[in-house]
Amino acid sequence: MRVVVIGGTGHVGTFLVPRLVMAGHEVICISRRKSKPYSSHSAWNSVRHVVIDRTGAEEKNIFAPQIIDLAPDAVIDMICFTLESARNLVVALHGKIQHFLHCGTTWVHGHSEQVPTLESQARNPFGSYGINKAAIESWLISFSRSTGFPATVLHPGHIVGPGWAPINPAGHLNLEIFRRLAEGKEILLPNNGMETVHHVHADDVAQCFMKALANWNNAVGESFHVVSEQALTLRGYATSMATFFGQEAKLRFLPWEEWKSTVSPREAELTWDHIIHSPSCSIEKAKKLLGYQPRYSSLQAVQESVTCLFEKEKSQISDNNSHAG
Ligand SMILES: NC(=O)c1ccc[n+]([C@@H]2O[C@H](COP(=O)([O-])OP(=O)(O)OC[C@H]3O[C@@H](n4cnc5c(N)ncnc54)[C@H](OP(=O)(O)O)[C@@H]3O)[C@@H](O)[C@H]2O)c1
Repeated sequence: MRVVVIGGTGHVGTFLVPRLVMAGHEVICISRRKSKPYSSHSAWNSVRHVVIDRTGAEEKNIFAPQIIDLAPDAVIDMICFTLESARNLVVALHGKIQHFLHCGTTWVHGHSEQVPTLESQARNPFGSYGINKAAIESWLISFSRSTGFPATVLHPGHIVGPGWAPINPAGHLNLEIFRRLAEGKEILLPNNGMETVHHVHADDVAQCFMKALANWNNAVGESFHVVSEQALTLRGYATSMATFFGQEAKLRFLPWEEWKSTVSPREAELTWDHIIHSPSCSIEKAKKLLGYQPRYSSLQAVQESVTCLFEKEKSQISDNNSHAG
């Protein structure tokens, strides 16, 4: 199949595009060519890159025609964030493609009433990102079911992989939390540390896109969570990471209002967004209907990522030292 991946050089695309090529698909990757994949793979040599700035192209109403001109059999849309953007592309593609896969987010659930959250539960999204993504999902699935447009929505959790910082046990992105755990130093966690985060390795997200493409009958008209087998509580996450570093976790807990004054406003904002959602999603549907089987637990994914970041830091320090010498 000719597969167009819109936004194919990011976290997921780094793993998805090589998987598509290795499976024998012809791949066209759309991006502004500002960023490169996080790791190299010979498969990229056979990928056609088409440079389009989606935002600019949408303003001129030429984005959907540009995608149609590429004559795709399947389109994987990694970077759609508003209903208008989704609708303009999908309505134009109706009747012209075999499969359309939209990348959603577990944030569509907002406050879950029961956990692990199932795809069938009512959505209670909050915050503009979750609300917009939920509106896209709702429209896309009902458009698919009512018109036969072959759409599938995949909802990743916190995407982790080698090359970028994972959401840490305090719910934000500062690597200092991992450093302190590695050095056996105390870290502060909000509340009782019982709120949850739900990671997924980027290659497992890529695996699920591949499985959705290969299981068209079960995938079309449906949405699926794409996360690791189990979510982590913040305290469980911190404790396991300390153990991974050969240390005993030293954790102290503060009520949210006190805790938030111990970090930067951006860190507080990120942590709040994670603990107020406290995702814990079921993957039973993707396992049963698509054969999705994550290779990484949350901890394995994070440990790989942090090891890679620490090694990079170490080699930068030794490079700097050798230049200084
Ligand atoms: N990150 C997470 O933890 C997370 C969690 C849940 C769901 N999601 C969902 O995952 C999707 C994002 O996937 P990702 O994390 O793999 O993406 P990403 O790492 O943010 O990469 C974005 C990709 O899109 C391209 N791009 C960005 N802006 C563009 C534009 N205006 N025109 C054309 N190309 C553009 C980028 O390349 P250039 O910069 O070169 O253009 C890159 O290829 C989103 O739908 C998000 O809602 C992410």
